[in-house]
Amino acid sequence: MRVLESEFAQSFIRLADDGWQLRFHERNGGNISYRIPNEEIETVREDLDFSGEWQEIGTSVPNLGGEFFMVTGSGKYFSDIKRIPEETCCIVEVDEKGTEYRIVWGLTKGGRPTSELPSHLMNHEVKKLASGGKSRVLYHCHPANVIAMTFVLPLEDKVFTRALWESMTECPVVFPAGVGVIPWMVCGGRDIAVASAEKMKEYDVLIWAHHGIFCIGEDFESTFGLAHTVEKSAEVYVKVRSMGMPVLQTIEKQNFLDLAKAFALDNLKKEFLD
Ligand code: 13P
Ligand code: ZN
Repeated sequence: MRVLESEFAQSFIRLADDGWQLRFHERNGGNISYRIPNEEIETVREDLDFSGEWQEIGTSVPNLGGEFFMVTGSGKYFSDIKRIPEETCCIVEVDEKGTEYRIVWGLTKGGRPTSELPSHLMNHEVKKLASGGKSRVLYHCHPANVIAMTFVLPLEDKVFTRALWESMTECPVVFPAGVGVIPWMVCGGRDIAVASAEKMKEYDVLIWAHHGIFCIGEDFESTFGLAHTVEKSAEVYVKVRSMGMPVLQTIEKQNFLDLAKAFALDNLKKEFLD
């Protein structure tokens, strides 16, 4: 089968386009990666080209040795992904040591995988180990309201988690572990990859200050849903703060505890309620 006929490529393209439609991706802002299961890579193997040069990843991911990833290309516009996926995206193979990659499909007019490849791969590695292999989709976007929040609130996990949980009732159901916050860092480098991978041990969604959301999940729909929920809640937060009226009521500690019981949220981070 051709790569673009596969269900995973179609889902990948749809995620990119959903994000574009919701204005989460100005220009080339944001990136996506999908850790492709062996059985899915076998279905498209005839469409892959293994003659490309091996290149340095810039970090080491030994637990991803031999794996294949579909990723967006660096500098490619999200508005183009649906129209010309083979020019804007690629599939990369990681070598057995986990230090190099080569492009086996896509980027037909040249280019390289996202500059955030070190962050994507290091976080995939952490989550692959923590989830028993279930985590597969990593999504980075630049939604305006989450970014706005990082200018007015202390950059602390608890502060952001509470602000987002309180802004929309179902947030604790969608991200019971809360959100991790990473201070401003240079994008695309190994430092932000290391800092994010450390926080990802505890969370599924990170907020990069003055930059955006970085989140991971088991499938395309739930990963996009996670970012969408965080941004929607941030939008409510920004609207409430912008109304110029005092907050008369909010969701209280007991409400969260009731929610945890009703939805059997065993992993709700209760220490963030005090
Ligand atoms: P790329 O175009 O290299 O993916 O970079 C976009 C981005 O959002 C960096 O954080
Ligand atoms: Zn970015």
